[in-house]
Amino acid sequence: MADNTRVGPAEILDALRLRWRLAALVLVAVFAGAYAYAYTLPSQYTAKVIVSLTPRPSTGVGASDIAQLGQQYVAYVTAPTTVRRVADRIGVDRSTLGDAVGADVATGSVNLTIKVQLRTPRTTAVAANALADAVVAFAGGDPLISAQVVSPATVPTDPSKPRRKLIAGAGGVIAVILATAVALLVERGRPRVRSSVEIATVTGHDVLGRVPLSRSVKRGIAAALDDPLVGGAIRSLRTVLDHQARESAVRTLAVTSSVPGEGKSTVAASLAWSIARLDARVLLIDADLRHPSLARVLELPPKPGLLEVLRGETTLARAATTAAGPDGLVVLPTSGVAETGDLLARNLHALLRQAAADYDVVIVDTPPLLAGDDSTTIATMCDAVLMVVTSGQQIRRLSDAARALSAVQARVLGVLLNRTDVPSYGYTYRTLARNVDEPAVAEAEDAPEPAPERIEPRSHVVVPPMPASVQRPPQAAPTPSAEPGEPVMSDLDRPNE
Ligand SMILES: Nc1ncnc2c1ncn2[C@@H]1O[C@H](COP(=O)(O)OP(=O)(O)OP(=O)(O)O)[C@@H](O)[C@H]1O
Ligand SMILES: [Mg+2]
Repeated sequence: MADNTRVGPAEILDALRLRWRLAALVLVAVFAGAYAYAYTLPSQYTAKVIVSLTPRPSTGVGASDIAQLGQQYVAYVTAPTTVRRVADRIGVDRSTLGDAVGADVATGSVNLTIKVQLRTPRTTAVAANALADAVVAFAGGDPLISAQVVSPATVPTDPSKPRRKLIAGAGGVIAVILATAVALLVERGRPRVRSSVEIATVTGHDVLGRVPLSRSVKRGIAAALDDPLVGGAIRSLRTVLDHQARESAVRTLAVTSSVPGEGKSTVAASLAWSIARLDARVLLIDADLRHPSLARVLELPPKPGLLEVLRGETTLARAATTAAGPDGLVVLPTSGVAETGDLLARNLHALLRQAAADYDVVIVDTPPLLAGDDSTTIATMCDAVLMVVTSGQQIRRLSDAARALSAVQARVLGVLLNRTDVPSYGYTYRTLARNVDEPAVAEAEDAPEPAPERIEPRSHVVVPPMPASVQRPPQAAPTPSAEPGEPVMSDLDRPNE
């Protein structure tokens, strides 16, 4: 299992990549809070007045004594009686002014600096000057020192407090730290699989192949298969599945995953496409009735499909289409429905049985295992199941999904790790690759590019051979000979050829 005690840059980047929404939310919330706090604080203005303290002649007081003698002036300025008198004179609350006044004589200086900090710029300057006047008047009775205002206070134009940019900046730094910490904590609470060994341990099934994360996938199946890494991975999977299925013939294969978006439809379509390139007859069924996506993935026009076949509204022959991909590929898309009820349980098995008789391989794209029971229902009806797992999937989801399959005793051929890391996608993705036993790219590059191969003997293969005598001309959909209203499965009794 992953080392859960280590937190390095790679772990932090992974946590942020996987939990970026949560991290962004925390970041924005904390920063907005700090910003709002900074800008709702009341402004404070500071006015400063400088009073020069001068020794009186013939007193023997030197400039060096001023700093010490000036302390009584500091005390005078901040004394409650002085503050009270000045506050009453200028019409300011006494305690407010008491909290706002400060004075000092710096060591070695002959100047008394009086500072007043209030919320109103003009009152601030008035208060500072009034205090300076009081000091000058007080010095009138001092035999040693005379006082004179050398720099009166002017009305401040900018607030001296709060330091809003500083508060907002500090808020930003705290927001980044908190967002990172939250992402890390959440990730720690939901550990993810990091290696093939972990996946095998969690699911009890081997990793049969890795499909790298690739932009080519977004450009359609043909483009994805043309991508050396993705195409190589799918061809390797095809070979591995063929090898895996030698024990017993596998004609119907369900492609599933624990949660949505792991790449079931992409993998199912790529695999079907890739097998069909070997002149095999492949039926690709979209059995994700709630969120069908094969039509989108294969860019097929909307038309009735599996749902309508299961409901008896059309036949497989009418609904299936050869509009996508190589000659041997026949696709049964579907329209969506919110509630599937018993539709799959009641009618899919017979459809699959007949399809297995008519086609060399039937690949079934399914809904996510943890989103309902449709996927396990389908898995029980297929000869074998391929689990697609997104690289870095949560351990708990994966083990729940594997348990769901084992509970119905589905025959799981293995796991396909999807969206694995490739170095060329930059540092973030490289971090994942470091955590995988053998980097995906290395494997894909090392994998020999399969030559256009002939398929294996029919008895044991996922991709059965097409006897020359039955190899079809450029594929046409099974002839839609059934009439509307004809019993659903009736066309299934008809050979596909
Ligand atoms: N290896 C990959 N590299 C890049 N993008 C990928 C890869 N595999 C899948 N995707 C993209 O991820 C998205 C989800 O893929 P897909 O629809 O195949 O997942 P799914 O498991 O069928 O999802 P759902 O459960 O919603 O049907 C698609 O946009 C697809 O293009
Ligand atoms: Mg899908």
